[in-house]
Amino acid sequence: MADKNSSLRVSIWRGKDQGRFASYDVPKLESQTVLDVVSYVQRQLDPSLSYRYACRVGMCGSCAMTVNGVARWTCRTHVAKVARDGALEIAPLSNLPVIKDLVTDMREFFDKWARAMGRFQGGRTRSDAFARVDPASRERRAADAGIECIGCGVCYASCDVVGWRPEFLGPAALNRAWTLVNDVRDVQRDERVRATSGDRGCHACHTQGSCTLRCPKSIAPTAGIAGLKRLALGGSSVGRR
Ligand code: SF4
Ligand code: SF4
Ligand code: FES
Repeated sequence: MADKNSSLRVSIWRGKDQGRFASYDVPKLESQTVLDVVSYVQRQLDPSLSYRYACRVGMCGSCAMTVNGVARWTCRTHVAKVARDGALEIAPLSNLPVIKDLVTDMREFFDKWARAMGRFQGGRTRSDAFARVDPASRERRAADAGIECIGCGVCYASCDVVGWRPEFLGPAALNRAWTLVNDVRDVQRDERVRATSGDRGCHACHTQGSCTLRCPKSIAPTAGIAGLKRLALGGSSVGRR
């Protein structure tokens, strides 16, 4: 057995939705991230391990996994912060089908962005002047609060309601819709409010805030969802918040 002070005991999910945890000993290093640990296992111990990452600097959103029971971005999560008694358990994100090992199928997650009308629709043409948006306006500040989403799925995997009701659009898609209803250049606000209302949308959220607690970008989807509820109550003629 490896020395507890110089190595980590790491359990990693192998297989699909039906699978098992496999154990590995990984050398401890200073400032080591969870993604470093997974990469070590794949490169040094078992090249058949599948996982996903791209940027390693918290920009692409592809490296999220469940670490000791909590959804996290792994490239910016230090082992020292999350290891328990020198042990790590690493699994794929919850609420998403597993393709293999630590790789989840994100199609439904992004399909829900489309169902929430998460794509900007402007009304100007190339020959029009640029739209001017006051950075200090209430709308712009509301959009700014959610715009840095990297689509990592951490909030989605942390949401109980997504687990209970798979048709629920979830915090990331609703946060995206909220940024767009506050974009004064967009011309589909009322349709978007309708698309994100009801039992599949903002009204299914119980506002307990796991999404907001877990978001690595410090975004508060709960606040945006509350804003969508207010807009839905006011109908199509209410102003932006
Ligand atoms: S606050 Fe709403 S969206 Fe966020 S985790 Fe809870 S139910 Fe899901
Ligand atoms: S809102 Fe936060 S946790 Fe959710 S997908 Fe965007 S960055 Fe990730
Ligand atoms: S690898 Fe890009 S956010 Fe982690």
